[in-house]
Amino acid sequence: MKLKPWISPKVEVRLSPTEGKGVFTNQKILSGEVVGVFGGIVTPEKDLPELRKKVSEDKLCLDHAMYIYPGFLLLHDYENGCDPLCFVNHSCDANAQVVNGIVLVAKRNIELGAEVNWNYKETDDIGDWNYEFKCNCGSKNCTGFVRVGPKYRQVIVQTV
Ligand SMILES: C[S@@+](CC[C@H](N)C(=O)[O-])C[C@H]1O[C@@H](n2cnc3c(N)ncnc32)[C@H](O)[C@@H]1O
Ligand SMILES: [Zn+2]
Ligand SMILES: [Zn+2]
Repeated sequence: MKLKPWISPKVEVRLSPTEGKGVFTNQKILSGEVVGVFGGIVTPEKDLPELRKKVSEDKLCLDHAMYIYPGFLLLHDYENGCDPLCFVNHSCDANAQVVNGIVLVAKRNIELGAEVNWNYKETDDIGDWNYEFKCNCGSKNCTGFVRVGPKYRQVIVQTV
């Protein structure tokens, strides 16, 4: 299933000091405001291995995917390419959050010119998908690495 994204006119894509491209405000955004609604191609996680045989890694660009529910990924539109929300970077002290699976909402006021970000662990650490990257968010509480997936989840063994 394909979803068409909605992007607030108050944001735009620019090069980011965090990594690659990022999404920045061109007008102040208030706490609670919708920054955008993610679009792309809804894909059951179990279909991913087959899809990987048909679509090149470049086009699939899993860096731009997120979970919308356990077992369901929202892949970027690998048929038509990126939309601006593909470029929202992660922060360990995020100023926005994803609610209702696909809606990016400001958690606090986001000043003019600031980068918009969300904490990827909040959306992505719910399934079998593993990824890791060194975090460059620069926040005081930065955890250093973003590690998502069963490979990195702590297993707590309770003894009696
Ligand atoms: C959804 S993309 C974000 C857009 C990306 N900057 C780009 O230009 O394509 C996610 C990827 O961006 C990079 N990224 C996002 N947040 C980051 C951060 N805080 N520190 C370092 N790299 C980050 C990682 O490579 C991650 O896999
Ligand atoms: Zn993309
Ligand atoms: Zn960080």
